[in-house]
Amino acid sequence: MSETTRDRSTHPTPRVVHSAAQLPDPTPGRERAVVMTMGALHRGHAELMSVARAAVGPDGEVVVTIFVNPLQFGSVADLATYPETWEADLAVCQAQGVDYVFAPAVTTMYPPEVPEILVDPGPLGQVAEGEVRPGHFRGVLTVVLKLINMVRPDYAVFGEKDYQQLVLIQAMTAALNLPVVIVAAPIVRDHDGLALSSRNVRLSPEARAAALALPRSIAVAQRAAVAGQTADAVCRSANAELAAVGITPDYVSVYDPQFNPNPVAGPARILVAAYVGGVHLLDNGAVSFGGGL
Ligand code: PAF
Repeated sequence: MSETTRDRSTHPTPRVVHSAAQLPDPTPGRERAVVMTMGALHRGHAELMSVARAAVGPDGEVVVTIFVNPLQFGSVADLATYPETWEADLAVCQAQGVDYVFAPAVTTMYPPEVPEILVDPGPLGQVAEGEVRPGHFRGVLTVVLKLINMVRPDYAVFGEKDYQQLVLIQAMTAALNLPVVIVAAPIVRDHDGLALSSRNVRLSPEARAAALALPRSIAVAQRAAVAGQTADAVCRSANAELAAVGITPDYVSVYDPQFNPNPVAGPARILVAAYVGGVHLLDNGAVSFGGGL
């Protein structure tokens, strides 16, 4: 351990800042990683923080942003009911040895006197989740770009749970030459297989039981792909699994790594989204066509 290496077995409280000006410049020689969140932190976020820590090492800086971005919500009701758990969120950040929590106000992020200039996600932002939630990815990419500029990280960690979001952020980073490395972290699941999401707390026990059809539909699809079925047939098998518990999905789609639909060969991703008990849930998994996962 170097002399400068901090002991992270007991972590100090992260420093909370509310503006880019309050966040110190990155220290020369120390890398900085950011995990962007909308709060209501759970084990999945904790995992993103530990991936961030691994990227920068014990002497690097981990910044967690907590900002419920109004620009990415289609409905006022969804925004109004988004869970807020500030004290618990800080405890999660402290337990993970986070250095800074950046929690700006809406007016800090979107000052009324500054013209509204937004990031256009292009065609990739119009399909799947983008079709169900028009304008969603414009809001996501705009806030992610702003937060990258404000935090100035070397790495930004995003979960594969929001797979289309991850692909779009990677695409924006390449298209706009952003000086940041995007790190992808695998989906974290609950003991019963449900992908962790801040929205899960809004599921009734019945809705939660039904929601388990989402991870099951992914597993069924993966088996169908291994058995040599086409993307179309794979989607049909996932749809059948959802229909068996009365879920009509918003979409069940397969994309290749460049996000072209219905690939015939090579690695791909099946994406599933559905409203279950009034809660919008997403799941996805790797599939491969033409043999193996
Ligand atoms: O994934 C999320 O929680 C949000 O979309 C993000 C990346 C924090 C932007 O608001």
